[in-house]
Amino acid sequence: MSIFVSDGGVFHLQTAHTSYIMALVDGKYLAHVYWGRKMDTPDMDNALINRWIVFSPLNGDGWSLDFARQEYPVGCGTDYREPAISALYDDGSRTVELHYDSFRVIPGKPALEGLPATYVESDDEADTLEIVLKDRLKGMKVVLRYTAYRELDVIMRSVLITNESDSPMIIEKAVSASVDYEGAAYDMITLPGAWARERHIERRALRSGVQTVESRRGASSHQANPFFALASHGATEDYGDVYGFNLVYSGNHTSGVEVDQLFRARAWIGINDYDFAWRLESGESFQTPEAVMVYSAKGIGGMSRTYHRLYRTRLVRGRYRDAQRPILANNWEATYFDFDEEKIVALAKEAAGLGIELLVLDDGWFGKRNSDNCSLGDWYVNSEKLPGGIAQLARRVNDCGVKFGLWFEPEMVCPDSDLYRAHPDWCIHVPGRERTETRNQLTLDLSRPEVCDYIVRAVSDVLDSADISYVKWDMNRHMSALGSAGLPAERQKEMPHRYMLGLYSVMERIVSSHPHVLFESCSGGGGRFDPGILYYMPQTWTSDNTDAVDRLRIQYGTSLVYPVSAMGAHVSAVPNHQVGRVTSLKMRGDVAMSGNFGYELDLNAFTEEEKEQVRAQVEQYKDLRTFVQSADMYRVASPFEGNTTAWVFVSQDGNDVFAAWFRVLAEYNIGVRRMRFAGLEEAAVYTDTEDGREYTGAELMNIGLVVDLQGDYRSRTWRLKKKA
Ligand code: DGJ
Repeated sequence: MSIFVSDGGVFHLQTAHTSYIMALVDGKYLAHVYWGRKMDTPDMDNALINRWIVFSPLNGDGWSLDFARQEYPVGCGTDYREPAISALYDDGSRTVELHYDSFRVIPGKPALEGLPATYVESDDEADTLEIVLKDRLKGMKVVLRYTAYRELDVIMRSVLITNESDSPMIIEKAVSASVDYEGAAYDMITLPGAWARERHIERRALRSGVQTVESRRGASSHQANPFFALASHGATEDYGDVYGFNLVYSGNHTSGVEVDQLFRARAWIGINDYDFAWRLESGESFQTPEAVMVYSAKGIGGMSRTYHRLYRTRLVRGRYRDAQRPILANNWEATYFDFDEEKIVALAKEAAGLGIELLVLDDGWFGKRNSDNCSLGDWYVNSEKLPGGIAQLARRVNDCGVKFGLWFEPEMVCPDSDLYRAHPDWCIHVPGRERTETRNQLTLDLSRPEVCDYIVRAVSDVLDSADISYVKWDMNRHMSALGSAGLPAERQKEMPHRYMLGLYSVMERIVSSHPHVLFESCSGGGGRFDPGILYYMPQTWTSDNTDAVDRLRIQYGTSLVYPVSAMGAHVSAVPNHQVGRVTSLKMRGDVAMSGNFGYELDLNAFTEEEKEQVRAQVEQYKDLRTFVQSADMYRVASPFEGNTTAWVFVSQDGNDVFAAWFRVLAEYNIGVRRMRFAGLEEAAVYTDTEDGREYTGAELMNIGLVVDLQGDYRSRTWRLKKKA
């Protein structure tokens, strides 16, 4: 059992190393008591304090909601801080009053209807606590759901709101989790970015007032990943308290921290209340997405490894959760739109000769598409380019000895397409207003079931017509001019979330009916790198920026939350197509090997010498992937702090180690540079498989190995094996 409830109304969730505690006050208010290192249930007279604050009204029973540390704070009452929930009742009133009603403990973890979520494979992996709160005057029922995993230090939270009254009510805000801290001496770590610069790490001390991370773009976005962490000042990769918050959601999200007048932090994460309202008729419910909360007493690295393990084993599903991922070559940066069957087959032949296992045909194979100005939505082959069709192409690629993969962008429609001409109202738009385009495309309105059905049919027809082993599912614009022709006026603000529900149902239907296909998601690179999508598709194209130097930051930042098995990483041509930089093939390979490895360039353009190098890289990765894709990752030097980046991957059984060290610009007269390993056993002996030398774990971690490299853009890797 990982959940204990005492008679006095203390709810104590325990994971392997953490405790999360709440308590009832006066049998009525649900107070937050503690989240941190594992402990016994404390004395509530000491842990729960009530004080009056000047200028803050008291509730009739003397309890100050503006002072109390609350578990799910309400809006428009006596607490002036950020509410977790706001509503508009039928009579125009907005005060929500939630009082305790009941609880139950369920073994395991029930699924969230219509939404992606972490799961258990057997009920003894976790327990779930449901605490019911009610606004009795207005007939609102709120179920706070918590799951505590026994072996992983994670707490999952979500909220189900039901209208038990006879009148409609409107939910204007409902976050998935809110946590009140007793202090605010934390740094906030976030992952902001932009297209081709995703998930760069920012860290700053909390300040008074509200600091937020949010997306209003209809996607989790390149700009703001649905993640933040609070780290004690001075916390490092290995030391200090770190609290991570991540939302299993791919649409508009908000998270933030308010530091109040008493220098206390309130943190939250959930669906964004920007342009959001959800109408609940009598008897209807609203389910929030799931928040994944990780406490680590072992620094930022400890937090990351917990997220990685959870997502790798209990978020990602299907055959490829545990299977090794293939080494692929993608034709996008090799040909862009300029290809035909012969060119693709030539790439496949070359790929086979190099040991590459899968060839992916990217954008441009359908409709009349020869540039990005038409045909999205018309998922039938461009017979001018590929007269034999996809089935023939797939066969010829397979005959070369490699598998075949195909690109789709199913959520979009181009105004110049047969689909748009047939269904001009199927896109997100406001009648009478301009339909604003990005990349000559509009977003299909996935809040409409008939649009979802079309997508499932169109994509499935192609997948069923040929031997396709892999799909790249792209999405290249954010929502604008929000409106749905399928929703009544009073439900227009539901469209962005209904879109997500539609998208998840489409993905579920396609993925579950094609279990042999490996799906990789993409959104202009890493614009939808979130746990929501990972539930359906086990890997994501990390960024459209394939420059090895920029990738160090992007992959390092991404690894704060997401496992290496989720990151697509390819070697591309030089000068790099995005930034124009020239880096060595060795460094490009070493960076890409720290993810799901592949190539994205014209394989026919390699010299014989380069081909030898590529064959060696492919062989090296085939050895590495047996453990790197499921390894524990230790970050040892940050590209955000200097010229050097380094990380270590240690297999789950501790026997295999891969470490990589990268230096961006040459340095001179800087003394000795060393790679200091991490995550090893101090007393164990490790053999360097390249030169046979042996070192103890203590030596590798405390003294390290000298790295003597000259020149810009250099890298060095080590493959170690623990001696039996
Ligand atoms: C954006 C993706 O991120 C690229 O990799 C490529 O697939 C293009 N779209 C194709 O249009």
